Amino acid sequence: MAKRDHFGSKIGFVLAAAGSAIGLGAIWKFPYMAGTNGGSVFVLLFILCTILIGLPILLAEFIIGRKGQADAVTSFKKLAPRKPWFVIGLAGFFFSIIILSFYSVVGGWILSYLIRAITFSLNGTSETFYEDLFNSVISNPWEVIVGQGAFIFLTLWIVSGGIQGGIEKASKWMMPLLLIFFLVLAVRSLTLEGAMEGVKFLFVPDWSYFTWETALLALGQAFFSLSVGVSAMITYASYLPKETRLGNSALSVSLLNIGVSIMAGLVIFPAVFALGFSPNEGPGLVFIILPAVFEQIIFGQFFLILFFVLLLFATLTSSISMLEIVVSIGIKSKYERRKRAAWVYGILIFLIGIPSALSFGILSDSHILGMSIFDFADFFTSSFGLPLGALFISLFAGYVLTKSELQNDLKVNQFLLNTWRFIVRFAAPIAIIIVFIQGVMKLFV
Ligand code: PHE
Repeated sequence: MAKRDHFGSKIGFVLAAAGSAIGLGAIWKFPYMAGTNGGSVFVLLFILCTILIGLPILLAEFIIGRKGQADAVTSFKKLAPRKPWFVIGLAGFFFSIIILSFYSVVGGWILSYLIRAITFSLNGTSETFYEDLFNSVISNPWEVIVGQGAFIFLTLWIVSGGIQGGIEKASKWMMPLLLIFFLVLAVRSLTLEGAMEGVKFLFVPDWSYFTWETALLALGQAFFSLSVGVSAMITYASYLPKETRLGNSALSVSLLNIGVSIMAGLVIFPAVFALGFSPNEGPGLVFIILPAVFEQIIFGQFFLILFFVLLLFATLTSSISMLEIVVSIGIKSKYERRKRAAWVYGILIFLIGIPSALSFGILSDSHILGMSIFDFADFFTSSFGLPLGALFISLFAGYVLTKSELQNDLKVNQFLLNTWRFIVRFAAPIAIIIVFIQGVMKLFV
């Protein structure tokens, strides 16, 4: 049997985990969710959910993966033999397929925009240029399907090459570069006239906007953007050698993820208010606002190309983690079959994603529970699959793993260990159940 690959360095693992976490969740979804759900209240709930619930469960996934040293299903089987906990891994397999099916649609939009940026056809000629452009891209059936297919192809190409090489090398310089870009963009956006309105929108909470539905969406956003709940992080941590300090890694990933989300907000919202757009644009928000911000920068047209390349990379480091869960569960041990499994699942995911891809055009009249097919796929995974997966992972870490083995794994002081155990045993499960029931009731009753 082939020797199991391991990450070459600690920083390599943190970057890969951060690469899985930071992607469309922080950069595309966070701004538009905040924009449509009352801004600051959503932002605050998202931060609370990330730190108090997401981070402890992320750590739980790291522990389970490193202990298991195998794909998610096998890891659960090893740690709890003859018990049904491995179903969590199977659920992760299923939900990852659904997430990747609509995620790749947005990946396709990024490719479309990248090509337009390269051909310099992304500068506004009229008031509604960017909105019209986005609508024409997402409603063109060929463009979205070819884009989605190309994005999945890129993901497949990377995943079928193995774990270490591609991800680790590229993450080392692309992620920091993306952060620098965001910093520069935020400064530009914040110095536009009227920018303060956007800052207020993001940070001054108006509690009249609090609803349980918003809480559920913020919780789902925290899980989605941390890649928690579908065993992605179990899968990555299974490639870890024994000695890594998991607590520090989980904290770094969570803080980086909050940082990038807020930074994306600070690029988007000041510009939204300063340039006269609406925060309510939905999934198009980032695609409409970003080119408009670049228009305000010298050599903006060139930087826009570079930016879309980096965004594409951040998106790919997340999509490969999803495909990695699916492929690692889908194949059993033999290294040579990895390529074939990747292709089979890739094609399946592409087919499942087609209705989502078409839901802003040909299928715009088809609705499930009042949502477009794309929105439903997102809702079904973020507000149902991820919270449920996270709930059971939390319970597993809290009740199946014993305190003494955890002590051994984590090597942290007693107080931190007890606090973390209190959260995964009681606080997080109770919070998830309350938010989930209240949120779902508000939606459907
Ligand atoms: N966290 C990724 C993002 O924000 C999405 C993701 C979800 C990846 C679940 C893996 C598993 O883009």
